[in-house]
Amino acid sequence: MKRTRNEDAPPKDPLLSSQKTIRFVEFYAGVGGWTMALQQVVERGHSDLSGLRFECVAALDHSDLCKVVYEHNHKPVTLSNRPIQKLTVGQVEGWQADLFVMSPPCQPHSRQHTHQKRELQDKRSESFLHLCELLQSLSTVPSVILLENVVGFERSQSFSFFQKVLKDRNYRCCHFILQPSQVGLPNDRPRFYSVAVQNDYIKLEKDSWQAKYFTKPSDDISADVIIQTEIPELGVKAMNSITEKDIPKLQHFLDNSPDPRLSIPEKVHQKRAAWCLDIVTPEQRRTSCFTSGYGKFVRGTGSVLYTGEGTFELVAPEQREYDAEWDKDLDWTKARYFSGSELARLFDFSNDFAFPRTVSVGQQWKLVGNSLNVRVAARLLEFAFRVRMDALLINDNSKDL
Ligand SMILES: C[S@@+](CC[C@H](N)C(=O)[O-])C[C@H]1O[C@@H](n2cnc3c(N)ncnc32)[C@H](O)[C@@H]1O
Repeated sequence: MKRTRNEDAPPKDPLLSSQKTIRFVEFYAGVGGWTMALQQVVERGHSDLSGLRFECVAALDHSDLCKVVYEHNHKPVTLSNRPIQKLTVGQVEGWQADLFVMSPPCQPHSRQHTHQKRELQDKRSESFLHLCELLQSLSTVPSVILLENVVGFERSQSFSFFQKVLKDRNYRCCHFILQPSQVGLPNDRPRFYSVAVQNDYIKLEKDSWQAKYFTKPSDDISADVIIQTEIPELGVKAMNSITEKDIPKLQHFLDNSPDPRLSIPEKVHQKRAAWCLDIVTPEQRRTSCFTSGYGKFVRGTGSVLYTGEGTFELVAPEQREYDAEWDKDLDWTKARYFSGSELARLFDFSNDFAFPRTVSVGQQWKLVGNSLNVRVAARLLEFAFRVRMDALLINDNSKDL
């Protein structure tokens, strides 16, 4: 393994420069969810982070559709279609990035013996394993890495390998499972997140609020990971402490003049499986998790909206018992899918995010369903960079002693 940096000397810290510009790479960029989250960190403007700027030095995704949407929204950055498994150490080092953000494609998620072979042979794992190998070989590593994935990723072999590489490269990590509803958005989307910060940059005082999140690295990589489920210091509330007033009604996320093409086709609502649709009203404060299969499959792909009057009882499918006449009071002309822009609002994309005209509704659903909740990601970035800033302040103070 090639390593040229002197391991004893902390790397030069970009936060010490007057510009405080963090160069970042967004791997598996999709529509640029992590880039929007970084914009949100800057806009939220916590005083600890004042003056901090983020510059995207590379964004990668092999999908042509993602390229069109990404470049429409994140000019002047161009998205590279180069498959991640083709990246070389030289290319990654050339970017001189101090932050890596990534949402690798979902993996087959079991560490159980019977599934191990399948995961390693699965093409979707190849690029992420390659990225881990690159990280192992870089002469200088970024000070912060954030990863998002589906819940269950933490039990995968890919995750074990990622953990091992992070430990070898002197990172300390914390892991979270968080939901948009914990940050005031009416959507369920539990996702797994890893936050890794170079040990050189973690100088937490024992009583600092961040200290409890960074558990001591375990020598046993196969040990169960400790997963945190709240960050109250950053307004990420515990699930059991969320009340109605924390989450706005869906009516605040809706388009003024919804596209008539969003109506639910007869061939869909006449299916027996239509009973599984999760139907919500503008008065409600919840939607189920939207996936890339939204509009394509009925079961478990996301909520549909009902704007009709009447006494139709709207409860989540798992709380109902099948009744052949379940929709007799439902006026199907008042039921529709959410639009791509409504989903983008629920995911807290930037206000100026837009789909190019050439992108169909189905493609919009797929892209947002694959993306991440920007507000949750922004809180985790803020967490990581406040840890980084604290380390600098502590270093500065100790010089005065
Ligand atoms: C889970 S999505 C990430 C979405 C992204 N976080 C966003 O905000 O839209 C995974 C993305 O990785 C891309 N992808 C999958 N395998 C890839 C590879 N080997 N090289 C480059 N991109 C890849 C897919 O096209 C997809 O857009």
